[in-house]
Amino acid sequence: MVQFPEQFRWGVATAAYQIEGAAQEDGRGESIWDRFCATPGKVHNGDSGLVACDHYHRYREDVQLMRELGVRAYRFSIAWPRILPNGRGQVNTLGLDFYERLVDALLDADIEPFVTLYHWDLPQVLQDEVGGWASRETAYAFAEYADVVSRRLGDRVQRWITLNEPSVSAFTGHETGEHAPGWRNAHLAWQTSHYLLLAHGLSVPILRTNSRPNTRVGITLALSPVHSATTTSRDQQAAQRVDGKRNRWFLDPVFRGNYPSDMFAALGDLAPQTEAGDAEIIARPLDFLGVNYYFRFIARQGAYGAPGSIEQIYPKDAEYTEMGWEVYPAGLHELLLRLHQEYSIPELYITENGAAFPDTLSEDGQVHDPRRLDYLREHLLSARAAIADGVPLAGYFAWSLMDNFEWALGYARRFGIVYVDYPTQQRIIKDSGYWYRDTIAANGI
Ligand code: FCB
Repeated sequence: MVQFPEQFRWGVATAAYQIEGAAQEDGRGESIWDRFCATPGKVHNGDSGLVACDHYHRYREDVQLMRELGVRAYRFSIAWPRILPNGRGQVNTLGLDFYERLVDALLDADIEPFVTLYHWDLPQVLQDEVGGWASRETAYAFAEYADVVSRRLGDRVQRWITLNEPSVSAFTGHETGEHAPGWRNAHLAWQTSHYLLLAHGLSVPILRTNSRPNTRVGITLALSPVHSATTTSRDQQAAQRVDGKRNRWFLDPVFRGNYPSDMFAALGDLAPQTEAGDAEIIARPLDFLGVNYYFRFIARQGAYGAPGSIEQIYPKDAEYTEMGWEVYPAGLHELLLRLHQEYSIPELYITENGAAFPDTLSEDGQVHDPRRLDYLREHLLSARAAIADGVPLAGYFAWSLMDNFEWALGYARRFGIVYVDYPTQQRIIKDSGYWYRDTIAANGI
């Protein structure tokens, strides 16, 4: 048996828009995802988060489910439009009440809340009035939101995550347009990356001021090891470029105080506008980094050598999840080691890791998902190897507690270790969920 450290935080993760539902209740304002889902052709099957897992009404049952699994920590996000329906200004106390009830239920169950402030559901008003993340004003609105939330919850929440995957907000939301708000504008996409990071930095001291002294503040990034398809310098440069955009563009300003110079030079006119002092704000010291790991990226320089022509290579003999993501557990060890060696980060958490496979409810009433179980086991072993190498990895959050609204793919992908039968909202623990429960109980694999 491979044991994990005593205090290792075994957790599960979710996000507000993906599970809550109750999108029009108790004064919640519209978010950019409500609008995006309502726009024909944007989301598979016309699905939306209007009902989702109905967690807003069933949160007690869901906390009980977590208790059954024995998880020690729960990472969830707060819906900004529930708290400030207009993005800023008037506070909706019913929204704050909901999260206070949730946090109290978690604490009663001895489950530590890890609260993400922004997991992609920007108030639509900010999109309409100032252009959303393309505007500096949104960064200041975020700071206001962080202040309101932490004033209310700071006496009991001790782990704050400012943003989830700003790279996805910036590029999937504004460059490829596959996510809300659905823009396709590379120039603005790079600008949004800067204002997202500014928002992060502005909120860090606010969260500390409003919370208890031992509170820890961090950010969650989507990170991938990037490999070169061949040893040619063309492909190696392509890999460096992809690494620059996906990883270093976010890691360097947060943990080193500046954007990577090779990227800034390569971007030319696409480089974002910044103001004096922004770099210092963005680099305010953090207590931890949350790592979301799903796959590696193999890069090859495509035809003509143009930066946009970089291709992603999918090895033929590899295993893939239903997302088309390569199953590559070794990448987690490699990534964690690199983060530890190249950046001075006091503590790391895997804030998301998991897999979508086509699950079905069997005749025996159970959900048998051996591939997800293997996926979790292999990735946990890889993470454990990183700990053995000295990486200060303090916890792991399986994505996800339960099947939920998978953004542009709607309900067509299931990531849960708990199955959700959407018509009845029944939750059924999958084999992988029972395996995770036993792993937590044994504190090892
Ligand atoms: C991540 C998101 C999370 C979920 C997983 C599958 O990029 O943070 O909400 O959709 O992917």
